[in-house]
Amino acid sequence: MKNDDKSISGFSKLSKRGKMKWLVETFFKQPDAVMRELKSYWVEADQQKVIDGFSENTISNFMLPYGVAPNMIINGRTYVVPMVIEESSVVAAASAGAKFWMTRGGFKTEILGTTKIGQVHFNWYGDPKDLKKLFPKLKERLIKDVQHLTSRMEKRGGGITDIELLDMTDQIDNYYQLKASFETCDSMGANFINSILEEFGRILIAFFKVQEHFSELEKACEIIMAILSNYTPDCIVRTWVQCPVKDLGNFADGMDADTFAKKFSKAIRIAEIDPARATTHNKGIFNGVDSVVLATGNDFRAIEACGHAYASRDGQYSSLSHCELKDGNFRFWLDLPLAVGTIGGLTSLHPIAKRSLELLGNPSAEELMSIIAATGLAQNFAAIRSLVTTGIQHGHMKMHLMNILNHVGANEDECKAAEKHFETEVVSFTGVREFIEDYRNQKNTIERIIGK
Ligand code: MEV
Repeated sequence: MKNDDKSISGFSKLSKRGKMKWLVETFFKQPDAVMRELKSYWVEADQQKVIDGFSENTISNFMLPYGVAPNMIINGRTYVVPMVIEESSVVAAASAGAKFWMTRGGFKTEILGTTKIGQVHFNWYGDPKDLKKLFPKLKERLIKDVQHLTSRMEKRGGGITDIELLDMTDQIDNYYQLKASFETCDSMGANFINSILEEFGRILIAFFKVQEHFSELEKACEIIMAILSNYTPDCIVRTWVQCPVKDLGNFADGMDADTFAKKFSKAIRIAEIDPARATTHNKGIFNGVDSVVLATGNDFRAIEACGHAYASRDGQYSSLSHCELKDGNFRFWLDLPLAVGTIGGLTSLHPIAKRSLELLGNPSAEELMSIIAATGLAQNFAAIRSLVTTGIQHGHMKMHLMNILNHVGANEDECKAAEKHFETEVVSFTGVREFIEDYRNQKNTIERIIGK
């Protein structure tokens, strides 16, 4: 590989300022200006120290909008939902979805399960029959020997709920799994689960070392790895909205409730059968879901990975939401696996995540699952409503227009004129720039004529 002097050894050992100095001097044409800019995003020293502690090699903070969607009625309670997202129209869509259902009974939810799982993957070189025979004794031992790790969680009502032995040798030679199930109450539980699983690995080895017969084998059991699974199909929430079709009201361009309901449910059906559409459809759901997950300091990568795996559980990637029109009623629902926490981890360390939880009334993990799923459904409802009526560009472009106007440095007058003009015109970067240039030229000409 060509050495272009842009590599460095010992970077992580440099001080924060040392890292920044090397970066700005190596990669930027105006190092002093970039240094000042990066520093301008630092927050007050105590808070910055907390944020720097989350990750490695932190040099600055990356800003994203923190918005709120009001009027979200879930199980009869009204929430203002915090959302962190960079994409325009998402908060507006969630708010519109919330407002629509506010007068139609709001969102309902039911927790279908809260079980999380973890796996110890191992090779077994002894006789499979012996492993299976000894498993009940091993299971007892595993549970007993991790008491020091589980006792506090047990006091909160959680702990290990089961351990299964899975024989996977039909797929990989000698390969077995311990599949453990956990209840982690209001914490996401990643550290709790991973510590127990790694301890299970050590106990497994020690257990067979002293068993008569196996102790003679040089190696009966070999641990490959121990880690939680982010696939949590039994940690799941159902959320739904429903009303008589006639109560859906009228839509853009005079579309009546019946036509809307049929087009809407057809759109959902398409996402159920076509993976290409399902991907975009579910992306819309995750616009809402991820933004609340982020705002509350939870792990959006885990939530996404699990959601998409769950969407493929029947062998083909499909819609996470469903719609039914029956006996004159419209019902729209979403089943979503969500392993989130409201205590521990970033939730209590990140200054704004803490405020998000306070804004939501310091919910339990189950309540937060409901809020996140309902926001996903609100988002999905608003997106499909736009798609089957006006199309989404209509709403999107309003925000897009503002972003372009900001970019070209339009003042208040120019923004007002552009908003009016683009009510009936297609928004594009070039179109907006040309409009602003024309507007400025015209204004200059008029001012010259009247001698201003
Ligand atoms: C855009 O971020 C999300 C949508 O594409 C979702 C959908 O098509 O359902 C509008």
